[in-house]
Amino acid sequence: MTDLYAVMGNPINHSKSPQIHSEFAEQTSQDIVYSAMQVPLDGFESAVKNFFTKSGKGLNITVPFKEQAFKVADKLTIRAQTAQAVNTLILQEDGTILGDNTDGAGLVGDLIKNHKVPLKGQRILVIGAGGAVRGILQPFLSEQPDSITVVNRTFEKAQILAKSFNEFGSISACEFDELNQPFDVIINGTSASLSGQLPPIPQCVIDENTVVYDMMYGKELTPFLRWSQENGAAKVLDGLGMLVGQAAVSFELWRNEQPDSQAVLLNMRKQLKS
Ligand code: ATR
Repeated sequence: MTDLYAVMGNPINHSKSPQIHSEFAEQTSQDIVYSAMQVPLDGFESAVKNFFTKSGKGLNITVPFKEQAFKVADKLTIRAQTAQAVNTLILQEDGTILGDNTDGAGLVGDLIKNHKVPLKGQRILVIGAGGAVRGILQPFLSEQPDSITVVNRTFEKAQILAKSFNEFGSISACEFDELNQPFDVIINGTSASLSGQLPPIPQCVIDENTVVYDMMYGKELTPFLRWSQENGAAKVLDGLGMLVGQAAVSFELWRNEQPDSQAVLLNMRKQLKS
């Protein structure tokens, strides 16, 4: 029998998840249907209950419902607990719903597997301290970097994050004007690129060995990646691989089959450019 999956969000019409998961299903010969569901802003919980009552097997959750999904889940993985947000719901055999967050694993996998960028022992700068950054810190720290420095426009938010994650590894907060040396890996987790802006970051954080990743992506390089390239970064990478990567981790959780995310990523990249 065909198993039902969906992504819930509002708005949802630009979601690439149905295409990604349909390609994964085709690759691995899984009999599934994956649809996009626009959910009213005040109707998330009932939409989730309804979906699972009508024999749905799993959901992806996107903006603005990830924090509500965290509350709806019966159980949570450690990475979902630390993210305080859920992007994947999984119907368990006993009928309960497990909440997970695959965003950080998607990003870590994109860096390590797709781009051969090691994280162990590296000095990492994370820019931003919102929900997107909270979602990736535990998976990053579990790769045992030398250190993670969190810098944010609102310094207090960076301090709070650093404090709440320091049980998982070496993490500290700093202000933009305290940055005075290069990092091995820089992650832009701010939403500045959405409005065509750059975080106020000094050039000295980049040298010829620095890999720069923006969690956003688009047809062109994001303003932050363009700036990094102009300032001599070794590599600049956008968040399309993270999008496909988080989907691949969700798919594996649901179906116990590992899809070929590289092939799907290549297709998505071609479409984005055309
Ligand atoms: P998300 O869920 O995408 O992380 P968020 O929780 O609203 O969204 O967080 C947005 C992040 O981008 C914050 O770290 C924000 O900085 P503040 O905490 O100071 O608001 C950061 N941000 C957004 N626009 C920015 C800009 N133009 N320059 C620097 N940081 C910016």
